[in-house]
Amino acid sequence: MRTVHVNASTAYDVLIGEGLIDRSGELTAKVINPCKCMLVTDDTVEELYGDRVQISFSYAGFEVVRFAFPAGEASKNLDTLTELLNAMGEAKLSRSDLVVALGGGVVGDLAGFAAAIYCRGIRFVQLPTTLLAAVDSSVGGKTAVDMPFGKNMVGAFHQPSLVVTDTDVLRDLPPEQLSNGAAEAIKCGVLNDPALFALLEGGGWRDAIDEVVERCVAYKRDVVAGDEFDTGNRAFLNLGHTFGHAIEVCSGLGMLHGQAVGIGLWMAAATANCPDALILRLAGALRANGLPTRCAYPAAKLAEAALSDKKRSGGTVTLVLPEAIGRCVLKKVPVAELPARFERALATQEALGL
Ligand code: GLY
Repeated sequence: MRTVHVNASTAYDVLIGEGLIDRSGELTAKVINPCKCMLVTDDTVEELYGDRVQISFSYAGFEVVRFAFPAGEASKNLDTLTELLNAMGEAKLSRSDLVVALGGGVVGDLAGFAAAIYCRGIRFVQLPTTLLAAVDSSVGGKTAVDMPFGKNMVGAFHQPSLVVTDTDVLRDLPPEQLSNGAAEAIKCGVLNDPALFALLEGGGWRDAIDEVVERCVAYKRDVVAGDEFDTGNRAFLNLGHTFGHAIEVCSGLGMLHGQAVGIGLWMAAATANCPDALILRLAGALRANGLPTRCAYPAAKLAEAALSDKKRSGGTVTLVLPEAIGRCVLKKVPVAELPARFERALATQEALGL
């Protein structure tokens, strides 16, 4: 088992290894005295792992109450949050009790936000079951629900007390879900870790998934330790996201987050005047991981969609621009520059045949 220790306002461990889902209760009991816990999941994950996690927590002495909601981003809203808070109230959870988030990013964000506001904040544990959640959203304490005016627009910073990632669960994911998470892992390689990028760029790293998750979490740990509340260098984690967010919006959210962010990675490089060889290397890494490279939307539509991104601040947006694999810079640009940047990226797409 690998351990990454996160030193945020709440210090906690991220445990990564095979077979941990059946030990999740025992591992949690090492940091939280057995109490009542609300096991929150979606209906897909509940069927696969709900009973195993419940048994593990019950065996470790926790009193388990369950709440499951329909899988998918459409559930990440105030209605589901209210239902969950009511269920927590009906179960008489107290301030010393626990929320356990079993699932991907939607479950983690929603359950984490409920934990952040119930009784002004109770503890929660993340059991990520997607690669995307394991390498990104389960670590760092961002919790939220979506609103009609934007994704993740209402939320709170609330660090988990423990993250337990079972890499057998990740290895069993459908290929599309592994690809979705791979985009965020490739992002970490481009930001800071050339060895990670080299491991990922050929594809075929499934047997090294423990190392991939550990390297991504270790990088995120360093970023979060320096800027927990996202007022400075945490913006680096948005590499590919301004462009990717625009693509996601244009796709009517029909595209997976990782697919859009992947395209956003080479687009960021294209607008940073990176050499063609670097852009082609990024695109090759995406293809090797089953991710698309082509952006099918016109620049004006993309630029308009990019404006709905909450990362925008007044008239400027902070872009993360690659300089080399493992090195990026932050650059504040006027939003008026976005159409030209999208034009440039789309011209590069045609020139390089992406
Ligand atoms: N997913 C980006 C962040 O945690 O800041």
